[in-house]
Amino acid sequence: MKGVRWSRFRGRQYSYTLAVLVITTVLLWSWEENPVITIVSDEGQFLKPPSECNYAKGRWIADNRRPLYSGTKCKQWLSDMWSCRLTLRKDFSYEAYRWQPEACDMPEFNGSQFLRRMQDKTVALVGDSLNRQQYQSLMCMITGGEDRPEVENVGRKYGLVVPRGAVRPDGWAYRFPDTNTTVLYYWSASLCDLEPVNMTDPATEIAMHLDRAPAFLSRYIDQIDVLVLNTGHHWNRGKLNANRWVMYVGGKPVKDRMLVQIGNAKSFAVHSIARWVDSQITLRPQLKAFFRTISPRHFYNGDWNTGGSCDNTMPMLHGSEVDQDESSDSVIESAVKSTRVKILDITALSQLRDEAHMSRYSLKTSDGVHDCLHWCLPGIPDVWNEILYAQL
Ligand SMILES: *[C@@H]1O[C@H](CO)[C@@H](O)[C@H](O)[C@H]1NC(C)=O
Ligand SMILES: *[C@@H]1O[C@H](CO)[C@@H](O)[C@H](O)[C@H]1NC(C)=O
Ligand SMILES: *[C@@H]1O[C@H](CO)[C@@H](O)[C@H](O)[C@H]1NC(C)=O
Repeated sequence: MKGVRWSRFRGRQYSYTLAVLVITTVLLWSWEENPVITIVSDEGQFLKPPSECNYAKGRWIADNRRPLYSGTKCKQWLSDMWSCRLTLRKDFSYEAYRWQPEACDMPEFNGSQFLRRMQDKTVALVGDSLNRQQYQSLMCMITGGEDRPEVENVGRKYGLVVPRGAVRPDGWAYRFPDTNTTVLYYWSASLCDLEPVNMTDPATEIAMHLDRAPAFLSRYIDQIDVLVLNTGHHWNRGKLNANRWVMYVGGKPVKDRMLVQIGNAKSFAVHSIARWVDSQITLRPQLKAFFRTISPRHFYNGDWNTGGSCDNTMPMLHGSEVDQDESSDSVIESAVKSTRVKILDITALSQLRDEAHMSRYSLKTSDGVHDCLHWCLPGIPDVWNEILYAQL
């Protein structure tokens, strides 16, 4: 990488080259105590190494090399419901942007290089439907949306089969045979272990253990090399009641007055899973784990249940830059602090893209309900994967 950059750099105008060299030398000299390798980007700005980069800071740039796959393809993995090219939507301007982090290198995503880097490895996305979007996006990015009949469905190996009476399994797992790479998704909306309170009662309440990792993760963590977690939109009383989830800590229903408040319970669970994953990294230091921050919703009246809309189709109506240092998701940010779990901070940059949701074009919601939570694919979750790729 560095070689390529420097040789490109060599072709630049002499005076400009000299100026940059002088600055580089001065910087290297003044940082002698703690030498840094300075890399210069095409625009001549100084780039930080990936470990120091805040990928969340930057700007959206129009780019006609986007999207990375076609929304009319990728039938093997992309849900029709999320492919806006298959809906009545007419404007696709939202597809043609890339994210440029400030002062960091953003490698072009390349599916075959991704697979080679993930040779003999398993990449797991575990979380709610937004992580399912990120998973579908990743599969489409790896394959460029082309059919890959040789890719093997290995869901059964992870117990991912359609349960009796269910619409879909709790997840999917696919193995790319050439590189022996498995990419899987598992649905765990709360990242808590769920356990029926009374096994023999079909209408039983479900204990939602705020202090226990989902059984799937406990069981398979030692086979996972790259883990991407998320949770967020299921932490409300309506969703908990609808699922008959009852919060438990220490094996008992939560009575603590602070902890029964959902926001506090979410924070407790998020901190707990981050610490658990960190303890797994102690056992297996090659495990790389990321906690994705919350994906922003854009219901104008702020309430999923009563509708609202995200009708705007004009990109970047509210600006195209993020320049804050802190994450907009302080819960995840604080949970990963002092662990080896990395933050995959996509909240603020996605916040700028209200025009890229399913909006009123969602097939399932022709009854006038707008989906201002999920994103059109290809679209914003592709960028989350590019930022993940940059950090692998
Ligand atoms: C991806 O990388 C491979 C070699 O590593 C190269 O042959 C291929 O052209 C690249 N694909 C794209 C789309 O850049
Ligand atoms: C595939 O990778 C796994 C590790 O993830 C390894 O245990 C297995 O032996 C590999 N299989 C082949 C055929 O190389
Ligand atoms: C569990 O559910 C069954 C069936 O509804 C019921 O007969 C039994 O009493 C329940 N057990 C407990 C401990 O509540």
